[in-house]
Amino acid sequence: MQTTKTVDLGDPDLYTTLDRHARWREHAAEDAMVWSEPGSSPTGFWSVFSHRACAAVLGPNAPFTSEYGMMIGFDRDHPDTSGGQMMVVSEQDQHRKLRKLVGPLLSRAAAKKLSDRVRTEVSGVLDRVLDGEVCDVAAEIGPRIPAAVVCDILGVPAEDQDMLIDLTNHAFGGEDALFDGMTPRQAHTEILVYFDELIGARRASPGDDLVSTLLTDDELSIDDVVLNCDNVLIGGNETTRHAITGAVHAFATVPGLLDQVRDGGADVDTVVDEVLRWTSPAMHVLRVTTGDVTINGRDLPPGTPVVAWLPAANRDPAVFDDPDTFRPGRKPNRHIAFGHGMHHCLGSALARIELAVVLREVAERVSRVDLVAEPAWLRAIVVQGYRELPVRFIGR
Ligand code: HEM
Repeated sequence: MQTTKTVDLGDPDLYTTLDRHARWREHAAEDAMVWSEPGSSPTGFWSVFSHRACAAVLGPNAPFTSEYGMMIGFDRDHPDTSGGQMMVVSEQDQHRKLRKLVGPLLSRAAAKKLSDRVRTEVSGVLDRVLDGEVCDVAAEIGPRIPAAVVCDILGVPAEDQDMLIDLTNHAFGGEDALFDGMTPRQAHTEILVYFDELIGARRASPGDDLVSTLLTDDELSIDDVVLNCDNVLIGGNETTRHAITGAVHAFATVPGLLDQVRDGGADVDTVVDEVLRWTSPAMHVLRVTTGDVTINGRDLPPGTPVVAWLPAANRDPAVFDDPDTFRPGRKPNRHIAFGHGMHHCLGSALARIELAVVLREVAERVSRVDLVAEPAWLRAIVVQGYRELPVRFIGR
């Protein structure tokens, strides 16, 4: 169905309450196509919401590119300067080459090896918070685990990890507060400077980490190496932290879930997929048309930016029964929380293993998760995430 409404869907104030789901559901059910006037983006953009339309925009042979950028604000006339260099905003040969190089470091086998690290992190966090004061999961648990895992993948030496984890938390915390006198943007720049040093160290003494792997390709410039370390850093941290926080939110609010995970009544891998669908931390992805395209009956010329809203697709009533309800045994579960098509998340196996370990460890050691207050949501458009989730963990 063709719908033209004029509202700037890139306004982060629209997403700070759960009303966002009602709006998304309405748009998905209508299979709407909404135009946003220039505002959050310089030239405006179209939005799609239904599972069908989002999959069509992101699909393997769709006439769309991410090379101009994959977030609201970029388009053909205002391209992302990382386009053609960083995996998520490159296409064709560069994209294929980067996936081939980086893929093995994030594969299921590599992820399994990292699961001990995840277990140690979760267990350390639970030691601190069990039967204790109120714990803000969004600050104390969600961020720590993915940051530690990404440090291992990058090959950050043990002595630098706490510093990098702190910087990462600040850079991707989604808040504007200062940390060590730095804004989140400055913290991110500090990380990029650190990557430069790490590259120097790995050049002198290579290991089996991401930096060393990227350095094996002579065609990649130092800039390419830094950008692709950053891609894994952002991809691994920004979203996973909210999925982990959401898993604890589900434990606190879905009756019987803790017991079912502990006693095998629920299949953990199936629960993981429901956490991913229900939380959908990647809120949108943008593409630009590469030729004449018809979407939802509307003809779009080349160079048109189109945004797919993943949480809307993941609660599309045409695909998911009772979409707002967390169903531990939901099957099939064709969510597109990891995107779809050529850029489908390369870290999906790792994210799934992180979530499975969190679910198992919490269920093993905790008898109840009490929600102390309703969650507060981030004021953001790139990630759908938790600003605060205060709970009490009651041990077994
Ligand atoms: C790509 C979501 C975890 C690394 C993507 C995309 C989505 C996504 C939607 C596609 C972007 C696009 O189409 O433009 C998620 C979610 C995660 C998660 C929801 C956790 C719950 C991770 C982790 C890593 C990672 C743990 C690595 C440590 C990447 C990379 C890409 C990517 C490298 C680019 C793939 C490509 O362009 O071919 N992710 N991600 N992600 N993700 Fe993830």
